[in-house]
Amino acid sequence: MKRIGILTAGGDTPALNATILGAVRSANEAHVEVVGLLNGFASFFQARAPHVILNPLFQAIPQLDPTRGGTILGSSRTYVNDEDQTLLQLIAKRIESLQLDGLICIGGDGTLNGLQPICDMVPTVLAPKTIDNDLGLNFIGEADQWVKDSQNEGEEYRKDPHPTGLDENFEIQKMINYATPGYATAVYEVAEGVRRVRTTAESHHRVAVIEVMGRHSGYLALGSSYGQPDMVLIPEYQFNIEEVAERVRQIYRHQQHAVIVCGEGIVGDDGREYGATSGSTDPSGNVLLTGAAANLAESLLESIGEDFFLSSGHFQSAKSAFFTRKVGHTQRGGRPLQFDRFYASQLGGNATEMLLDGENNSVSTLQWDPESGFTVDRHDASLFRDKFGEIHARTIHPTFYNSSLLQISEQGRQYLHPIFAGAIGAEDTEFIRQSLFDFGNLYHGYKSVNVEIAKLTRYLET
Ligand code: F6P
Repeated sequence: MKRIGILTAGGDTPALNATILGAVRSANEAHVEVVGLLNGFASFFQARAPHVILNPLFQAIPQLDPTRGGTILGSSRTYVNDEDQTLLQLIAKRIESLQLDGLICIGGDGTLNGLQPICDMVPTVLAPKTIDNDLGLNFIGEADQWVKDSQNEGEEYRKDPHPTGLDENFEIQKMINYATPGYATAVYEVAEGVRRVRTTAESHHRVAVIEVMGRHSGYLALGSSYGQPDMVLIPEYQFNIEEVAERVRQIYRHQQHAVIVCGEGIVGDDGREYGATSGSTDPSGNVLLTGAAANLAESLLESIGEDFFLSSGHFQSAKSAFFTRKVGHTQRGGRPLQFDRFYASQLGGNATEMLLDGENNSVSTLQWDPESGFTVDRHDASLFRDKFGEIHARTIHPTFYNSSLLQISEQGRQYLHPIFAGAIGAEDTEFIRQSLFDFGNLYHGYKSVNVEIAKLTRYLET
């Protein structure tokens, strides 16, 4: 193997550059050239396939800084449609012209779905990333739980609770891909946000509803528990609005304020998707989720009743008892924490080794068990596919959530602890201390890496 390609696809995460650097370092040792494809699969869609050589003379380019958030290669949600034969032929031709002997795609479940047709052109492996922490399996065989129901002439996926009984012996150390790079940093942002919102809600006797990302997976909402919210609503548990309202009343009576975290994909027991009001989808078909917190606040006010808040004497209008905060894209951006940097680079290095070992269509995974701690491993992509060939986002295991308390469960705490116990390195806090209020920041504008990458960009001859 002389030359491999690497690309970052889907929504960005904080530790992508660390993954790329890990892959490049392993390639340097094996004297393999690494070509960075720009903007994910979109590079292959262009006749001249914009790319950058990431290790001239087998040394990583200086722009590849593992502490830098985002991705120096750029990312997009462009995916390869395996039914478009003309496009597939063009992509195959471009891969040949780039002289790639292998390809590493850094991405999540959408990317794993999209790389399947490329595996027929060149050996391809996935290095995982996603703040949603939804690439993986709670246990081997979980993908087999997906079944299709025929409804109104269409077909809808449904997860059959225990058709095989395979998850009866669920153990966190048997999870496939325990955590994905990017998740820890995003949780840091969320938990910090909850703590900041708390004191203002407390001072003004208000109810704060905080919306976090994660689509239909509740890992980010679960991780927010480190910020000690009073209540956490996850997309996996279909809550009853009257029960949630009653819980808010109890909490409010006790402490005169409340802090609620909700995942953007929360669903009520009447089937209402609180964040799916826009009805639009992204290029890979994911429903765009927004507005869950605002809709939840509105419904809670309706159920609790205006009098409850007006009689407290704190408000002139009951509506002002609520405020919402969407943590938003700060969850995805910025400098990765030590946990993410370290394991992202290990997973990237492992991906290169997988290609060197002749693997194709497989995933570099992060495993955890109490004896060995975190270790990297590899798993065949077919393990993640259901019987129809689809890959589904991992949802949190039901035992991680206590639906009576609307809070994390003991098993959930045990799951999070190994990831977060040492997630923040001393240099992470030192970096904030030294860099944020650097006097120089007031004099110099931000220097984008995109400008430097543009200077290094090469194109295929057409
Ligand atoms: O998949 C990652 C993610 O951050 C989701 O949690 C979120 O719903 C989505 O991306 C947001 O995407 P966009 O940046 O396109 O708004």
